[in-house]
Amino acid sequence: MSESTANKNIPPEKLVRVTFEPEGKTVEFEYGTMPYDHHGKPMSFLDVAENHGIFLDHACGGSCACTTCHIWVKQGDEGISPAEDDELDRLDMAADQQLNSRLGCQAVITRPGNYVVEIPKWNRNYTSEGKPLALAEQK
Ligand code: FES
Repeated sequence: MSESTANKNIPPEKLVRVTFEPEGKTVEFEYGTMPYDHHGKPMSFLDVAENHGIFLDHACGGSCACTTCHIWVKQGDEGISPAEDDELDRLDMAADQQLNSRLGCQAVITRPGNYVVEIPKWNRNYTSEGKPLALAEQK
């Protein structure tokens, strides 16, 4: 089932629509108006997720020092900033790296359009099952 936060007041030429799979949550906002949420690069997918209450793990706080924000870009690649060397180096350490892999905190939306990204299942498992237990054991 999909969920959308469609905003009918946004001019079509300025509309950014981002869908996070596999939950199918879609958010829409006007390009250039989203406030920076202090996680990852401004207008990164992590920034979009944080602004809209969508969980995307970011263990290092969005500083390109982990791989927990790993996403697969399924649509809209042409409107996303190219990966820089530090992101590519970090992605080499990510599990299940694919040609469309990016770090959610580093991949920046550079123009209006439609974007679809998938959060890998293993990443969600790590977050929901692994990390809380590991943290609970640290006493
Ligand atoms: S949050 Fe750590 S690299 Fe993106």
